Amino acid sequence: MKPWPYPRIIAHRGGGTLAPENTLAGLRKAKTLGFAGVEFDVMLAGDATPILMHDQTLDRTTSGSGPIAATAYRDMLTLDAGSWFSREHAGEPVPSFERAGRLCVELGLWADIEIKPVKGFEAETGKAAALAARELWRGAPVQPLLCSFQPAALAAAQQAAPELPRGALTRDIPPEWKQWLQKLGCVSLHCDYRMLLPQQARAVRDAGYWLLCYTVNDPEIVRVLFDWGVDAIITDRLDLIPPDFR
Ligand code: G3P
Ligand code: CA
Repeated sequence: MKPWPYPRIIAHRGGGTLAPENTLAGLRKAKTLGFAGVEFDVMLAGDATPILMHDQTLDRTTSGSGPIAATAYRDMLTLDAGSWFSREHAGEPVPSFERAGRLCVELGLWADIEIKPVKGFEAETGKAAALAARELWRGAPVQPLLCSFQPAALAAAQQAAPELPRGALTRDIPPEWKQWLQKLGCVSLHCDYRMLLPQQARAVRDAGYWLLCYTVNDPEIVRVLFDWGVDAIITDRLDLIPPDFR
């Protein structure tokens, strides 16, 4: 099987624990530390603008409050997505996917883009993220990987931009995983490392799929997973698990 062509150590939500999640500051932090790959979450704001956001509400990571689905992106422009993390990051904006994608291309950061739909907007988010990614990375030497826990989002991404690679996200690996990956035309399976067994890792790789694990913050566990054949890991601990960690 073709070796994993992307970075093996991927920074979670941009800068992991070293920057406010899903922000431009996080992407810059990853780059500064020498990371070549980042993971972040894409969701639709209330006016269907794709933005970087993990939660379904503004409350935890911004100075605003209320559901993302009920807030137009223009009303997020004045919000502070950095103060919850540190004073140093005060005034950090909620980035649009467009701004974040442009920054990744400019910095040469490979992206593992998690399509994170608000409940009920799975297909819309998958389609919008895939179409935007196609434009943002047009002509770039390496294309991003689109992944999601939501099959409907992956199916919509596949229909909108079939040429972009896709990965299926899951907590544990269900018995029907192979049919699921085949149906959605995925190249990779991404699971919670705590649920993975070595024989499952072997089966995924033997079937010709790449295997990623999230969110691994212990260097010793990374070593074990790599021994099992895991292709890449996503980490919060950019300080403990450097980009060249093996
Ligand atoms: O990409 C996998 C990982 O990010 C999933 O967990 O909750 O951080 O989006 P979460
Ligand atoms: Ca994520």
